[in-house]
Amino acid sequence: MEDAEWECTVEAPVNIALVKYWGKRDSELILPYNDSVSLTLDEEKLGTRTTVRYSASYEEDSLVLNGKPTVISSRLSNVIEEIRRAFRKQAVRIKMNAQDLMSMSRYRFRIETNNKMPTAAGLASSASGMACITFALCTALGITESVDMSELARLGSGSACRSIHGGLVQWEAGKEEDGSDSLAKQIYPASTWPELKFIVLVVDGEKKKVGSTEGMQRSMATSEYMLLRPKQCKDRIQEVCWAFQAKLFPALAEVIIKDSNTLHAICRDSYPPVNYLTRTSEALIDFVHRLNEALGDVCVAYTFDAGPNCFVIFEEKHESLLMWLLLHTFIENDVIDPTIHRQPKWDDDEL
Ligand code: PMV
Repeated sequence: MEDAEWECTVEAPVNIALVKYWGKRDSELILPYNDSVSLTLDEEKLGTRTTVRYSASYEEDSLVLNGKPTVISSRLSNVIEEIRRAFRKQAVRIKMNAQDLMSMSRYRFRIETNNKMPTAAGLASSASGMACITFALCTALGITESVDMSELARLGSGSACRSIHGGLVQWEAGKEEDGSDSLAKQIYPASTWPELKFIVLVVDGEKKKVGSTEGMQRSMATSEYMLLRPKQCKDRIQEVCWAFQAKLFPALAEVIIKDSNTLHAICRDSYPPVNYLTRTSEALIDFVHRLNEALGDVCVAYTFDAGPNCFVIFEEKHESLLMWLLLHTFIENDVIDPTIHRQPKWDDDEL
């Protein structure tokens, strides 16, 4: 038993924020300054796959990220320790026999994790990455049902807590100092609006120069626009939920577009300013507004995280026109990698 080894492999999806999380009220526990809401994409092309091997005979935890042995960050180490603590609590609750408890407490993990898209390029790799590792470790210890995995994933990367659920997901900032009420919950399953589609236009797959942690710190410290965020986000989330359940694309699109623009305006207002968008990102913004104008209705929306890459959102009925236009306007210029565009089949199932 002592030398036995086990393994499990799981996958987790990316989520894309429609009303963005930006700024922390507690950097250690990763408690956000404002509520946020996102849609979880299916993990086929964007997402993470993690294999965890575990045994009491391993000397220490280790990590291989995208094929490279990597030092375990303090955030990931917090996640691992918190999962071990949750396991011990659960073992006491279910009165696990002392020998099993001893040997399982000594498990060390060899974590091998691979992102299916560029890492740290504003494509939400940290969200699916931390959600996937959390899910894998909780599966290994048999505690997926007894813990709130969103709380554990959040300790690794804030936005990861939303990847624990499918569909439209809200992460409440919460009020408690220990973060016990800062959890992600599904608001509506993806089946509410199956015709909604996303494509991702990879403008630049390189690692971004200013990471989101640094960007958030700068904004919290220097941008007065941040003061508007808590209330603004609450109002916008209500609008998103209402538009989503009523399947009103123009209403949904307007909030998504405005919130993406607010995030990037805050970044520019921070000191020193942060600019995540490139000229191609700006051209895509123009393209979407001109297309909506030509169609006489808001049929397409865009949103950008902390990076230049564009998530385009639309209903299935506009897909062929949009793809044709994008192919002729952007991809011929060789600016955008079309291989990552996708038509997700959203899945209602929780992980
Ligand atoms: O979870 P982080 O630290 O990668 O921050 C993500 C922040 C945004 O992607 C810009 C917004 C969001 O809500 O996901």
